[in-house]
Amino acid sequence: MSDIFTIDTVAQAFGQQVQQPAFKPAAWHFAELMKQHPNPVVLEIGCDVGDSSQLLLDCNPNLTLYTIDPYDDYVDWNGNMLNNRQELYQRVIERFKPYGNRFNLLRGISDDVDIIDQFEDGFFDLIFIDGLHTYEQLTKDCNNYYSKVKSGGIFAGHDYTVIEGVNRAVNEFAAKVDATVMQGDCDTWFWIK
Ligand SMILES: C[S@@+](CC[C@H](N)C(=O)[O-])C[C@H]1O[C@@H](n2cnc3c(N)ncnc32)[C@H](O)[C@@H]1O
Repeated sequence: MSDIFTIDTVAQAFGQQVQQPAFKPAAWHFAELMKQHPNPVVLEIGCDVGDSSQLLLDCNPNLTLYTIDPYDDYVDWNGNMLNNRQELYQRVIERFKPYGNRFNLLRGISDDVDIIDQFEDGFFDLIFIDGLHTYEQLTKDCNNYYSKVKSGGIFAGHDYTVIEGVNRAVNEFAAKVDATVMQGDCDTWFWIK
């Protein structure tokens, strides 16, 4: 029997009529912090259905969001196969049309140098890492994007305690840059640069 489970991400996001329990999107803690900011510019690595993206955009009408996601079918860190990603991409584009140029979706992987190089150092007030949750990818995302958050900005991500590879990569990177990891709501990690 295969260890891979298939999840229909479009049905999960938009198709089911069942009542879902209220939940806080992963970036909830940081949306609360961004409410007070005059003009925040935010990067989210890993958009998926866009629940954190919408929360961030709705928390402050002056917030501009950039988010990176390849929308390729893929096997997640836990063996879940996420499918129908092209269709999900189209649904996400529709979902965020009302936000105009406050929502900027960069379709690609976070390692793509053309994406990384679009942003000058210190461009972001908040970077929220919630893409591919492996030790190797978290290490690369931290190394590739840390310079892009401004001094006094927030460097953050999701799944700090539930995914061992995330925890290890974040702790190692924090030690490297002499930062102290703090924990926020929804199993997030962060520090102020
Ligand atoms: C957990 S979901 C993101 C959830 C979203 N941040 C939220 O809170 O609503 C992870 C997303 O990362 C994306 N992803 C996978 N590999 C990636 C990569 N190398 N770079 C950027 N995003 C990636 C997946 O397509 C998926 O949509």
